[in-house]
Amino acid sequence: MNFQINSFEEYQEAYKKSVENPEQFWGEVGDHFFWKRKWNNVLNWNFTEPDINWYEGGKLNITENCLDRHIYQNGDTPAIIWEPNDPTEAHRILTYKQLLQKVEQFANVLKNNNVRKGDRVCIYLPMVPELVISLLACARIGAIHSVVFGGFSAQSIADRINDAACKLVITSDGGFRGSKVLELKTVVDDALMQCESVEKVIVLTRTRTPVSMIKGRDVWWEDEIKKVETQGNPSCPAEEMDAEDKLFVLYTSGSTGKPKGVVHTTAGYMVFTGYTFANTFQYKPGEVYFCTADIGWITGHSYIVYGPLSQGATSLMFEGIPTYPDAGRYWDIVDKYKVNIIYTAPTAIRSLMAFGDEFIENKDLSSLRVLGSVGEPINEEAWHWYHEKVGKKKCPIVDTWWQTENGGHLITPIAGITPEIPSYAMLPLPGIQPALMDEHGNEIEGNDVSGNLCIKFPWPGMLRTTWGDHERCRQTYFATYKNMYFTGDGCYRNPDGYYRITGRVDDVLNVSGHRIGTAEVENAINMHSDVVESAIVGYPHPVKGQGIYAYVIANHHIDEESTKKDILQTVSRLIGPIAKPDVIQFVSDLPKTRSGKIMRRILRKIAEGEFSAVGDITTLQDPTVVQRIIEDAQKMRK
Ligand code: PRX
Repeated sequence: MNFQINSFEEYQEAYKKSVENPEQFWGEVGDHFFWKRKWNNVLNWNFTEPDINWYEGGKLNITENCLDRHIYQNGDTPAIIWEPNDPTEAHRILTYKQLLQKVEQFANVLKNNNVRKGDRVCIYLPMVPELVISLLACARIGAIHSVVFGGFSAQSIADRINDAACKLVITSDGGFRGSKVLELKTVVDDALMQCESVEKVIVLTRTRTPVSMIKGRDVWWEDEIKKVETQGNPSCPAEEMDAEDKLFVLYTSGSTGKPKGVVHTTAGYMVFTGYTFANTFQYKPGEVYFCTADIGWITGHSYIVYGPLSQGATSLMFEGIPTYPDAGRYWDIVDKYKVNIIYTAPTAIRSLMAFGDEFIENKDLSSLRVLGSVGEPINEEAWHWYHEKVGKKKCPIVDTWWQTENGGHLITPIAGITPEIPSYAMLPLPGIQPALMDEHGNEIEGNDVSGNLCIKFPWPGMLRTTWGDHERCRQTYFATYKNMYFTGDGCYRNPDGYYRITGRVDDVLNVSGHRIGTAEVENAINMHSDVVESAIVGYPHPVKGQGIYAYVIANHHIDEESTKKDILQTVSRLIGPIAKPDVIQFVSDLPKTRSGKIMRRILRKIAEGEFSAVGDITTLQDPTVVQRIIEDAQKMRK
């Protein structure tokens, strides 16, 4: 069996085999990686507890697969190309040889700072090569990384550090983002006032923003590297890890209040990200691959770091934003490095579309071969713009559907090999067995049907647990439908059997491709002293995909404009600027059932401006509230 699928027939064969004989299939895929000791058993699982074990008994280190094994033949191939925020600053290239050396060096820094196998390390860094180095250095010594996206607040960092009891934090003085400087170390300092588990903070110099270095706790990255250099031996052997040892934890929002730490383990995640990277994008040796995501999200973990590097690819990472210094920045980068594959989010495409074609028209994009999309449904208009203006109608678009919990792509076209339809994720990759379920828990067979999307059989990259709370993992993903993983997404299977994701069916929003729990935002708003209660719903937003609409009951006569600002500030403080509502509407009451449950369906319709579509309101405690909310919403729209 070929590792890389080369034709539609090969896809069909691989798919058939992966369903009929999954262990043989994934065993053969696993053979394309480097093991210190081969596994005894490819798969041992049940979805009841759940208890999922891939490549049982196998011993390995993921960094040997991402670095060491490429050194002999491809040591001088660029592993990471780094494009800075400011286009006038020099870019950096790290070959596989250089990246390995830096990872080993920093792994020794971690050891010198008392980090051991199994310890948790929180990483709060801007998009600089040292972020990749930090992840891999943790993996080198078997420490478990927990990356926190730079847009999260001190409180969010503290919650994440405390949940996993992180021992060490890696951050920088600051980060450049467009024309702004983010004061990352200051945010970490605020967070650490609440974190007893943290013993050390390693601070990288990036912006020269003044920082307060706390004696005994804070050390400079550069000084620690010098210490390792003077110690003489910069190499660091790769720790032998069990296939199911934890590789990282990454927090994501769900429909209840607190974000959960999704746990990925070593071997299955490695095999799945490597296999899906090579296949979905049809990566060819020597190509330059550019994923625009931030490593703070799963896309960056799987498809900037682990997937591409395990395949010996050249992964381009970009520190800045698509609109700085102007809305042609991505295309300048494509031109500068002759990028072959670009992988971005619909929200970025929509925002660049809105700036007009002048920023793209005179750019040389002829190197592009494959375009990818991730994070949210891509609307047809954005798909066509991407296809025509970026891909000049010659590049396949892979609309990759997957989730933090999945580790890698589940349903997606394979570039140039399986068919594509705008706004469809199309067909499952080999090993993925989707099922559409009805509200009674029965599978909906046949085509031209819609239901809740589940996966019937394990795949190597799936989550194993949620940090510190296995029961929550079971409840969230494995309890709704017996013997199934429940995705939380709705899905349509068309007459030809192609899948189209229709969006979340739970109380989770997808704002600019970022997952935000409504309960999380409500809890933050409710912390404000003038707020009695609130309800959050999503509404269609032309650039963000979904916007956040907040209905707020305030407790006494307030000045609405200044209270709105205070609420935004509260959400920024408690979660981060990414969770700020786009619209705040003050209401005197919320539509509730007699048992006190908020009827979000009604609030969603009002937020969408579909006032006549609120449906049946007779079961409400007080049906008259609906009319009052509608009248105020209409006034706000004027
Ligand atoms: O609703 C789906 C949507 O994003 C959710 C997962 O979010 P997150 O864990 O943050 O991961 C994002 C990056 C993988 C899914 O439940 N989603 C993701 N990709 C797509 C998508 N919806 C439609 N089409 C996609 N290609």
